[in-house]
Amino acid sequence: MRLTKKILSFGIGAVLSSFCVTNAEAAKVGISMPNDHLQLRWFSSDSVYLKDELEKLGHEVVITYAGDNDILTQTRQVENLVDTCDFLVIVPIDSKSLNYSLDKAYKKKIHVISYDRMLRDTKSVSYYVGTDSKQIGSTMAKYVVDKLRLMDRNQPANIEIFAGDINDENTIDIDYGVNSVLRPFFEIGKLNILSHESALKQNQTVKWSKQYARERMQRLAKEQGYAPKGKKLDAVIAFNDATARGVIDSLRKLGYKEGYYPVITGQDCNRLSVSLIENDVQSMSIFKDERKMAIETARIIDTLSKKKMVTVNHPEGINNGFKNVPSQLIDVVVVTKDNVKPVLYDSGYITEENAE
Ligand code: GAL
Repeated sequence: MRLTKKILSFGIGAVLSSFCVTNAEAAKVGISMPNDHLQLRWFSSDSVYLKDELEKLGHEVVITYAGDNDILTQTRQVENLVDTCDFLVIVPIDSKSLNYSLDKAYKKKIHVISYDRMLRDTKSVSYYVGTDSKQIGSTMAKYVVDKLRLMDRNQPANIEIFAGDINDENTIDIDYGVNSVLRPFFEIGKLNILSHESALKQNQTVKWSKQYARERMQRLAKEQGYAPKGKKLDAVIAFNDATARGVIDSLRKLGYKEGYYPVITGQDCNRLSVSLIENDVQSMSIFKDERKMAIETARIIDTLSKKKMVTVNHPEGINNGFKNVPSQLIDVVVVTKDNVKPVLYDSGYITEENAE
């Protein structure tokens, strides 16, 4: 069952393809994913839905996972996919490190779809399917502003930021969105980052790793004295659920209890994090429905394979540093304890079988 709320909007813009494929109908699609962690989205959701949607349309699918977000492994895997496939779907670990193989793809007239993360500074990308990460950042920040009542409180609040991996274009965009909302509150002193770790170089989470976030939170708590009965930490902006879980692990060790955690954001509606939301530990998660992203990606590839005209809802595109990439953007939903049921359970996103 699909989400009851209509979260996709289709524009009327059309983009005509100048590329062609050798085998016009059944194509071989190479999918390059950043990691193979069982509990993270790429392995358990995105690649599963993509394979399913593409196979339903009669296409052959080859999936590669780059170990533990290993850039060299992904480079080698993409090189191999360029040699053997008609289409590529890529989630880059580093938005700029695949350009050599991508140039080769361009010469071979292979269409590349940049999936969820933008491939930067290359002409070799035909479409982007994903979300507006600047908007995701500002949504997280607005949530915090609202929860901490920053507009009308007198006491300043303390916040720490746990950004994503700095090589991921989404991290740059989420950071932009977060700061566009929080900057005025920092400027008037209503919000403080006691660690002063406000730049991405300081607050990034290498490889979006839960362990990395956990250790950083542990260090910050020690240095700043954050504790249930110590210095108050009012909010943590974590750029996704894995980083939020790292932060939560550390806070739990310090004695934080259900209902008394800081306001903590997240992204991905990872199954484990959803139960943290239901138990008053994590406050919210941004839901980007991978099922919708998979359907849109498969539709674009299928249309191209039939040499037909592709329509996307942002034909004017998103600039990747080289060109405007025509984009299909998926709307996102803020998931809290109040709407977990309709958004995630009733829509079939979380079922009894996939709840763990
Ligand atoms: C980002 C993406 C997030 C998250 C993260 C971890 O690029 O925007 O939703 O999944 O990767 O891999």
